[in-house]
Amino acid sequence: MTNKIIETAQEKFALLIEEQLRRIEKMKQDTGWVDYAALSPIIIGVCFGDGIGEFISKQAERVLRHTLQEEVKKGKIQFKDIAGLTIENRVKHNKAIPDDVLEELKSCHVILKGPTTTPQVGDPWPNIESANVSMRRYLDLFANVRPVKIPQDNIDWCFFRENTEGAYILGSKGFDVTEDLSIDFKVITEQGSERIIRMAFEYAKKNHKRRVTVVTKSNVIKTTDGRFSRVAKRIAKEYPGITCDEWYVDIMSAKLIDPARRHEFEVIVLPNLYGDILTDEAAQLQGGVGTAGSANIGKKWAMFEAIHGSAPRMVKEGRAQFADPSSMIRASAMLLRHIGFPKEALKVDMALEMCGQFEKKKVITGRENGATGIEYTEYLLSWLDRPDLAEKWENEVEKLKRQ
Ligand code: IPM
Ligand code: MG
Repeated sequence: MTNKIIETAQEKFALLIEEQLRRIEKMKQDTGWVDYAALSPIIIGVCFGDGIGEFISKQAERVLRHTLQEEVKKGKIQFKDIAGLTIENRVKHNKAIPDDVLEELKSCHVILKGPTTTPQVGDPWPNIESANVSMRRYLDLFANVRPVKIPQDNIDWCFFRENTEGAYILGSKGFDVTEDLSIDFKVITEQGSERIIRMAFEYAKKNHKRRVTVVTKSNVIKTTDGRFSRVAKRIAKEYPGITCDEWYVDIMSAKLIDPARRHEFEVIVLPNLYGDILTDEAAQLQGGVGTAGSANIGKKWAMFEAIHGSAPRMVKEGRAQFADPSSMIRASAMLLRHIGFPKEALKVDMALEMCGQFEKKKVITGRENGATGIEYTEYLLSWLDRPDLAEKWENEVEKLKRQ
C-alpha cells in the first residue's frame, strides 16, 4: 500500500522536475531585451479583465490615449483591444487564459491589464489558475517591479519581486498524497534568481542608489531561499559601490513600519511570495493598494496592472463606477516609462499626486458620496494639460517636507 502511494507520488514529482529542467534550458537560451526604440509601431494591448477591471482600465486607457495621441497619429503607437479575459470566458474554456486570447496578447509588445478574478476553493467557478499568474509565466514576465514613494517620510522604495518561480510556479500542481497528506512545492533556480537580482542591481546602479536589500527566510527555508541569497551575494561582488544586505522576511515586514529605519531601504529584491506580501504592506503605507501600480517585465513582453484584485463585492453592491482608477493610471505611467516616454510618465505621476494627495478637489470614496472613476479621470486629465503642473507639484512636495 505505502509502496504504491510512494510510486504514484514519485511519478508526479518526476513530471514536475522534467518540466522545470526544460524551463531552465529555455532560460539559458537568453534572447536579449526587446528594443522599443526600434519598433514601429509599438503595439499596446489593452485588456479590461473583470469585476471593477473594466471600469478602471477604461479610464487608464483614456489617459494613455490622451498622452500618446500624437504618436498614434504618426503611426508610432497602435492600440489593440483584447477581449476574452473575463472570468466567464475563462471558465467557458476552462483555462486561465484561453488560447486565442494568449495569441492576441503575444501579438502585442506591451499590455495594460485590468484586474481579473482568481477563483478560490468554495467559489461558484471551477478552481482555474489565476490569469495574472499564468500570463506572467506564459510571457516569462520574470520581474515584478513595484515602486512605493512617500516623499514626506523620505521613502523611495523600489521592489523587485521575482515573478515566475518560488511558491507560485507549482502553485496549482501540488497534490494530496494521501487523504491526510498535502504537499506543495517551491522552486528557485540559479538562472531565475540571477536575472531578477541582476535587474535590481542594474536599476540601483543607473539610479545612483547605494543599497540593495535581499529578503529571504534562508535561515529556515534553507535550500531554495539559500540559493537566492547565495546568488545575490555572488552578483553583489560585481557592484562594488552598492551595499548588499540580507533581511529575513518577518523582521523586514516589521522594519518597513519602523520610522527609525524604513527610509534607509532603497532597492529590495525578493522571491515571489515574500514580494507579494511585502508590496501590499508597502502600498498600504503609501495610501492603500489602490494607489500602487505594478510592472511585470520580461525580455520580450511587459504587462502593467494594478496591484489589487477585481473587487467583486463592489460590483455586487452596484458601486463599480465609484472604483478608484488611480492604480491602473499609475500602471499606465509605468508603461509609458518602459516604452520610452519618461517625461510623459512623470506628468501622469504628478497629476495623480496633485489629484489624489494634494489638491483633492474630487475625492474617490468607492461610494456614491464620492466621485465616479470617469469624473476623477476628467479631473486628472485637466491637470495633465496644465502648463504649471510641475511647478505646483514641486511646491506641494516642498510644503510636505517642511511639515
Ligand atoms: C498580485 C496579486 C496576485 C499575486 C494574485 C491576484 C494572484 O496578489 O499581483 O500581487 O498573488 O501575485
Ligand atoms: Mg498581491
